[in-house]
Amino acid sequence: MGRAFVYVILGGGVAAGYAALEFTNKGVSHGELCIISEEPVAPYERPALSKGFLLPEAPARLPAFHTCVGANEERLTPKWYKEHGIELILGTRVKSADVRRKTLLTAAGETISYKFLIIATGARALNLEEFGVSGSDAENVCHLRDLADATRLVDVMQASTGGNAVVIGGGYIGMEVAASLVINKINVSMVFPEPHCMARLFTPKIASYYEEFYKSKGVKFVKGTVMSSFVFNPDGKVTGVNLKDGSYLPADLVVVGIGIRPNTSLFEGQLTLEKGGIKVNSQLQTSNSSVYAVGDVASFPVKIFGEIRRLEHVDAARKSARHAVAAIMEPDTTPEFDYLPFFYSRVFSFSWQFYGENLGEVIYFGDFSGTSFGAYWVHKGHLVGSFLEGGSKQEYEAIAKVTRLKPAIDDLNELERQGLGFVVAL
Ligand code: FDA
Ligand code: NAD
Repeated sequence: MGRAFVYVILGGGVAAGYAALEFTNKGVSHGELCIISEEPVAPYERPALSKGFLLPEAPARLPAFHTCVGANEERLTPKWYKEHGIELILGTRVKSADVRRKTLLTAAGETISYKFLIIATGARALNLEEFGVSGSDAENVCHLRDLADATRLVDVMQASTGGNAVVIGGGYIGMEVAASLVINKINVSMVFPEPHCMARLFTPKIASYYEEFYKSKGVKFVKGTVMSSFVFNPDGKVTGVNLKDGSYLPADLVVVGIGIRPNTSLFEGQLTLEKGGIKVNSQLQTSNSSVYAVGDVASFPVKIFGEIRRLEHVDAARKSARHAVAAIMEPDTTPEFDYLPFFYSRVFSFSWQFYGENLGEVIYFGDFSGTSFGAYWVHKGHLVGSFLEGGSKQEYEAIAKVTRLKPAIDDLNELERQGLGFVVAL
């Protein structure tokens, strides 16, 4: 049993949706393109799962957040794919790949061949078993990577109103889900090994701004330790967690957000890997010229930093996907991918954006006791990163534009004095 396509996108997440849109912009013919996804639904904007999807009132539900609404583009519903002659092969896991033969084998036993393959398999959530803790398959322990996880989290959350949640991990999932749990009237304790939240990006000063607000909403931070074991009732439901520091936290619900691993396993031994992802060049092409990789799974050259990086953020997924399609369809006229890293988050009424990289000396500006503040990172005499909370659209555009220019900074005191005025003036 088998089918043949000119273009195959493996994975049906954010990158797949944006790639599909770009394929139609570039003029793909009916029947040439398919998307194979383990998920049972058409590509959607994954960031909604830790935000609008978890709201107690008028929560976001599909089809409202199918790609590509997140970038103010068309919303690609299953009907749209049908109208554009794009085959959606959903609920289908690819279990092996042969890049020499240009074939994929699905778990259902179908062989799908391609002329060009775009790998968009994203990543999977790490589980506590990988850190030596067992029991995270209990019914009230939740992870958050896909729609099925989010649906289960909502069910467990609704059954826990007024009760206690323990959030394991102080990164993006931890912070965003903790805020949603508070909004759902659940008491939250957060446990993580670092001295402050969002340790990969925030400085202690930035972290403390958000932590103080969370504390004012009743969130308890348990830092510098990790979980050692779950405590169960006779029905196998978790009733609490033991921590390495000897303390115990009661729990009606546990959310685990301890990082991800890119889904590279199908291609290990067949394609070159770097920094945990599939290595691509500045056209998102892998070590096999018929195969491209985009989104969370791809390690690509970030030209502005002269380095290969793997990014785990939606903007990179959207833009790398579109670029790969352009490179496939218009190889002679597509320039190098020149990407400025962009991360953001929204929790409670906060909203921040970050551009560039968080390296070097930090210069703060704005009002840390108010609603708008930020920071610049200056490395080897150049501004390389910018963070802004509570900015206007124009201010965010200004920090993005200026960070891309990597302007020389001769006087850090002067930069501090000018604050946000520095980027607005340039
Ligand atoms: P993505 O994970 O979206 O898709 C991968 C797809 O491949 C999935 O459909 C999966 O089922 C499928 N797949 C994998 N292996 C397969 C196989 N063998 N066979 C078939 N299918 C397979 N970023 C940001 O910048 N701002 C934000 O606010 C957020 N918020 C956020 C919330 C939550 C809950 C999560 C989990 C993540 C975010 N992110 C984010 C990160 C962002 O969503 C992420 O970077 C993108 O979804 C990456 O897009 P990809 O298409 O690469 O992977
Ligand atoms: P993360 O890398 O942001 O954070 C992982 C956290 O896990 C670390 O901060 C650390 O505190 C903690 N940790 C690690 N080992 C631990 C252990 N043994 N016990 C307790 N804590 C431990 O990853 P995440 O929060 O799980 O997010 C998953 C993915 O989803 C990431 O790729 C992230 O970029 C993405 N995401 C992004 C956004 C956004 O950009 N706004 C929002 C949600 C999710």
